Amino acid sequence: MSLKKFIDPITNVTCLASINSYNFIGKGDKNAADQAAVDSMRKELNNIPFDGEVVIGEGEMDEAPMLYIGEKLGLGGDISVDIAVDPLDGTKLAADNKPNAVSVIAISNSNCFLRAPDMYMEKISVGPELPNNVINLEDPLTKNIERLAKAKKKDVINIKVCLLDRPRHKKQIDILKNMNCKLKLITDGDVVGAMQASLHDSDVDMYLGTGGAPEGVLAAAAIKCLGGQFQGRLVFNSKDEELKASKMGIHNFEKIYSINDLVKDDVVFSCTGVTNGDLVEGIKKVNDRFTTETFSMHFQSKTIKKIKKEYVI
Ligand code: FBP
Repeated sequence: MSLKKFIDPITNVTCLASINSYNFIGKGDKNAADQAAVDSMRKELNNIPFDGEVVIGEGEMDEAPMLYIGEKLGLGGDISVDIAVDPLDGTKLAADNKPNAVSVIAISNSNCFLRAPDMYMEKISVGPELPNNVINLEDPLTKNIERLAKAKKKDVINIKVCLLDRPRHKKQIDILKNMNCKLKLITDGDVVGAMQASLHDSDVDMYLGTGGAPEGVLAAAAIKCLGGQFQGRLVFNSKDEELKASKMGIHNFEKIYSINDLVKDDVVFSCTGVTNGDLVEGIKKVNDRFTTETFSMHFQSKTIKKIKKEYVI
């Protein structure tokens, strides 16, 4: 079932979620900013004529009052969809009025997204038009970098790698420094981070490192539309995570997921800027008029567009 007719409604959902969080930008309260985006997203998704189920959301039912995994949304109808949401990716970025806070959603036909708990995922991603399997999480980082440099006909020292700036990435950062690669360290927001290697106007060659698994599925949805490559492997830090994953049907805890394992079929993706960033501009407000910028994509129709919209609210 083509999802094309949902491109505009889904774009509207992230635009309104971003607008709803506008009053919390720079106010230092990341939970309030997130809640505003969540409330709006839930309301708007309930106005779309589909039978939707949140499969990537704000957490499990007992820990998230809204947009929890398993929550049913939409007006109903013949089309059943999986919904993956991150109403505000970069809650701290928004609270501190720093770049790259975005509102993100992806929808696919039913049972097409990996159902994963809110845990960590190890990720690696590169852009389009590269030989298949240029990246492999199984291989040492040095090998991945050398293969990518060869495929891009670049010197290793000109390969730029984006990572979340976290102590857990010290080993990878040390290896990259030893190889004299260029680093782009980001403080938060690894949906946009992971997409960067696939954007034609970005100089990032690879995205690497461990971040949220929900953000991994959303990034895979975007990168599928952009034609890039992505691999992810869940990182289990406790028995509880193993139990939660098992309940969702995940039994091989070592599995490396390709894009097509994470997003099995057609997908619509929308990402609206909350604060200005590498992908989209943030919300602008003049009097009662809001201007939004959204990166909107649909895999099957090869739609990739940036849309500016105005709302008077
Ligand atoms: P939130 O918006 O939920 O705070 O997530 C921000 C984020 O940077 C994600 O983009 C990323 O996947 C995750 O946090 C990384 O987690 P951690 O901050 O624990 O390293």
